[in-house]
Amino acid sequence: MAAKQGWLLRNHKFFERHSYILLVGILITVAIGGLIEIAPLFYLKNTIEKVEGVRPYTPLELAGQNIYLREGCYVCHSQMIRPLRDEVERYGHYSLAAESMYDHPFQWGSKRTGPDLARVGGKYSDEWHKQHLVDPRSLVPESIMPPYAFLSSQPLDFAGIRRDMSTLRVAGVPYTDAMIDRATDDVLAQAGGEYDVEAMKSDYGAIAGRDGTVLIRDFDGAPGEPSEMDALIAYLQVLGTMVDFSTYEAEDLSNKR
Ligand code: HEC
Repeated sequence: MAAKQGWLLRNHKFFERHSYILLVGILITVAIGGLIEIAPLFYLKNTIEKVEGVRPYTPLELAGQNIYLREGCYVCHSQMIRPLRDEVERYGHYSLAAESMYDHPFQWGSKRTGPDLARVGGKYSDEWHKQHLVDPRSLVPESIMPPYAFLSSQPLDFAGIRRDMSTLRVAGVPYTDAMIDRATDDVLAQAGGEYDVEAMKSDYGAIAGRDGTVLIRDFDGAPGEPSEMDALIAYLQVLGTMVDFSTYEAEDLSNKR
């Protein structure tokens, strides 16, 4: 070769001719890129922006989430509205990270046999949910969702709810000792029993849905001991209602591509 080769080219040749050395070179290069991306995150205390209104689930809602998990509702339903126009038009404001900060495990999901449920709270009445869970096809004839009628006759087992709350506290959910102590009373109070509703309200803030309705009532319409139906509907009715989006100012996505 006539022209004198540059330093870079000479060394490049060396790498290309020794595949193992090339491999090590690639690893070093990729590692530098990775570190630049990842290392700053270790210095952030929290990557989730706090948003007003987001509170931990009440014991009844938490019991409902446990049933949601037990029954595998997440197999067909996601709980994350992506910031894409079609999603926002169908389901409402895209999900904020803070809205699922107390979900352990989170229910984002990517499998949607049924619709996203991140903002289903307040969309239907309790009676609608009950009827839909008892017999989905009686309301949506083409539905392929399985029926869950047994939830109505199954008394809610909430003996372990305190333990669940203590465990969640380890994961960072700010349940106080008082909240955990009163958990079983709070389950009964929220499901419409004669218990201290005011104490619960002060712990969990205004337990109100998007439309201002207080989420303390007999969710399954059957007085007496709370059923699993009560808990599941209480959970469904709070989904997506904690943040008041009429006052929330998020970054405007419409100018972005
Ligand atoms: C086999 C998949 C499947 C499973 C499992 C399933 N669903 Fe569904 N779900 C659907 C489909 C499909 C629809 C849409 C048709 C309809 O409304 O029934 C739906 C609709 C819904 C809706 C109405 C949503 C809306 O915005 O209209 C709710 C609420 C719901 N499901 C809750 C649940 C709960 C709670 C569970 C677990 C107890 C569950 N689903 C389990 C498939 C499923």
